[in-house]
Amino acid sequence: MSNVVNDLLSSLTLEEKASLVAGADMWKTRDIPRAGIPSIAMFDGTNGVRKPASTNEMGLFTENIPATSFPTGVALGSSWNAELLYEVGAALGRESLALDTQILLGPGVNMKRSPLGGRNFEYYSEDPVLSGELGAAMVKGLQSMGVGASVKHFACNNQETEKMISNSVVDERTLREIYLTAFEIIVKKADPWTVMCSYNQLNGTYTSEHEHLLKDILRDEWHYDGVVMSDWTAVYDRLKALRAGLDLEMPGPASYNAAKLAAAVRSGELEEETLNASVRRILTLVEKTTAAAKSAEGTWDVEAHHALARKAAAESIVLLKNENGTLPIGMNETKSIAVIGQKAKKPRFQGGGSARVTPTKLDIPYDEMEIITNGKTSLSFAEGYRNDNVPDEALIEESVRIAKSSDLAVIFAGQPEGTESEGYDSNAIDLPPAQVELIKAVSAVQPRCVVVLCNGTALAMKEWIDRVPAVVELWLSGQGSGAAIAGVLFGHVNPSGKLSETFPVKLSDNPSYLTFGDGNHQAVYSEGIFTGYRYYDKKELDPLFPFGHGLSYTTFEYRDLKVTIQGDKAAVECQVHNTGSMEGKEVVQLYVHDEASRLIRPVKELKGFAKIPLQPGETKTVTFALEPRDFSYFDPKQNRWVAETGAFTIMVGSSSRDIRLSSRMNLTFEPGPAPELGLYSLIADWMAAPNSREALLLFIEEMNRHITDKIALDDQSMAFLGDFPLVKLIQLYGQEMLQDRSPESVVQELIKQVNGKQA
Ligand code: BGC
Repeated sequence: MSNVVNDLLSSLTLEEKASLVAGADMWKTRDIPRAGIPSIAMFDGTNGVRKPASTNEMGLFTENIPATSFPTGVALGSSWNAELLYEVGAALGRESLALDTQILLGPGVNMKRSPLGGRNFEYYSEDPVLSGELGAAMVKGLQSMGVGASVKHFACNNQETEKMISNSVVDERTLREIYLTAFEIIVKKADPWTVMCSYNQLNGTYTSEHEHLLKDILRDEWHYDGVVMSDWTAVYDRLKALRAGLDLEMPGPASYNAAKLAAAVRSGELEEETLNASVRRILTLVEKTTAAAKSAEGTWDVEAHHALARKAAAESIVLLKNENGTLPIGMNETKSIAVIGQKAKKPRFQGGGSARVTPTKLDIPYDEMEIITNGKTSLSFAEGYRNDNVPDEALIEESVRIAKSSDLAVIFAGQPEGTESEGYDSNAIDLPPAQVELIKAVSAVQPRCVVVLCNGTALAMKEWIDRVPAVVELWLSGQGSGAAIAGVLFGHVNPSGKLSETFPVKLSDNPSYLTFGDGNHQAVYSEGIFTGYRYYDKKELDPLFPFGHGLSYTTFEYRDLKVTIQGDKAAVECQVHNTGSMEGKEVVQLYVHDEASRLIRPVKELKGFAKIPLQPGETKTVTFALEPRDFSYFDPKQNRWVAETGAFTIMVGSSSRDIRLSSRMNLTFEPGPAPELGLYSLIADWMAAPNSREALLLFIEEMNRHITDKIALDDQSMAFLGDFPLVKLIQLYGQEMLQDRSPESVVQELIKQVNGKQA
């Protein structure tokens, strides 16, 4: 905390302080010219700067000041390239500065619980480690330019349905292992200047007033000292929110709340220091952003950023299927191409809501294909579909005609405009009927048929995928996606994206299917930690395309896995070799499997990844460092991460279902503090730590003196008695020795003895 901030704070009146903990308007913090406090501005969003022309409005349905539309979260998530996210983050920082924006409201790192989630396109992944690492890189890039990030939406806002009042019911282990980890990684690695809470309730309390979330976990455990701001109107009870550590209410001025806070301090209901703490954090943020902005560049090169948007889009494209070497398209053998589908000329490149950017320019896929073919291969075009729900016979006929008379067909398909947006969830993950009919008809006459998909979430393809040899996932990839897809189709770019979410065969395979979107003001996360691939693995259920899947035009071989154990850590290395004839990039994925554990664990969990460029014939060594946390689960009973001594398997592969190398080893971890004993602690709990074990054995020896059916705590009896609370064992066997003592008092006495020894 700087002296300047402390001096400023002490110069402010109570009313001024109460007014500072809310915005001045839709997008700015309050200024207090008398005290020399400037206001700072914040704008969306996750894949581009969305600054409304009229800056006191939301601007959700109008065009905004043009800025580069970078690939959306789902696309960047599929790049698996942290360096790229840093680069995009820095570019967003430059544009923010040029647009006089001190805080950019992103990235969004919520987990994808269901493919129906309306904002899935904004988020990176179903996996917390992938989201966390990419999010941290994005934040570092952005903040390197002197612009603060706002990591959102904290937490468990995984649906749009009733999100402003809905209660996410999530058990503590699932919360920690799945829904908070990405935020934790970003807070610890990248120190975001702000965190934005979500709208929803978490286990019955709005996240904006959630002390366990905002105080115990974010501040005390992760040591976060930046500003926590509300999502727009996510404050319900201002007093509770301030007490929980919600510093800044947005939008402002919310003068009614300022009056309430000042009155509460005056009446003694609210400690002034609670208000001071939030004001201090806000003033520190203002100081930091104004100082940093002065030393950073304030303009951007529109062409250079467009080029970066193209590069990022190209890195994110996932080649899902490619039979018979259909792709890349060689212009020697392919003299004519039928380009089919409205989206080839009217691209769908972003989702709706606060992440919708007005682009500076826009690549059209068809035009970019024309630039590459340059007359060597002729292109024809048919619209294919207009109303997505009703197949149009005439448009399909025209498409069939041009496909038949061409050497190859490329169909641009995807969810209709408006399907994926903030504000609502979708209700299906299939392509619309008009597009399915089109694909069936075209592939029936043209075996060399490529489907390019433009969508922001996992799709089901069962109805048509077996009919086409090649499918490319372009996602909603921003203003450069047209050039990027053209580059991939013709092999100027070797695709290197991998799925950051599982594509199920059908929607009902998804683990949240039975509860997602229930309009009951509740979202019960009954699938627990088994989200995404963790579920498909455990259920031995084949997805359409697994997490981490993505093909290349070249081939990679994995060799020589070496795992070196150093105390409670492991160093992992392997060689990756490009065995094909084209330069390419491979995403090497490291998963950990725990062979035996007290709590049920996933079959495998992602713990590291690296994207490696390789020339044909080139080999590189890839290394990973694993810490105890990478072997841990969160034990809700002990409220801590626990790594259990025992056997683990390290798996390295090209996708979660294409493991190329694995190695089994034993690791030893410090046992950590013994679990607290209680009246109903099980015999197994008593046996787990030396002190309690010793006390228990002595006690049983004593009990055995009074009975003939002696108790032995060997393996055999432990299988039977291990899950008995000690108090119940005493009720069964100890009546003789109890005399007039109750079993409960005997157990409490023993607990006291054990705790006395530990103390
Ligand atoms: C969204 C946020 C966004 C904010 C400001 C809210 O509705 O949930 O993601 O940053 O509006 O536009």
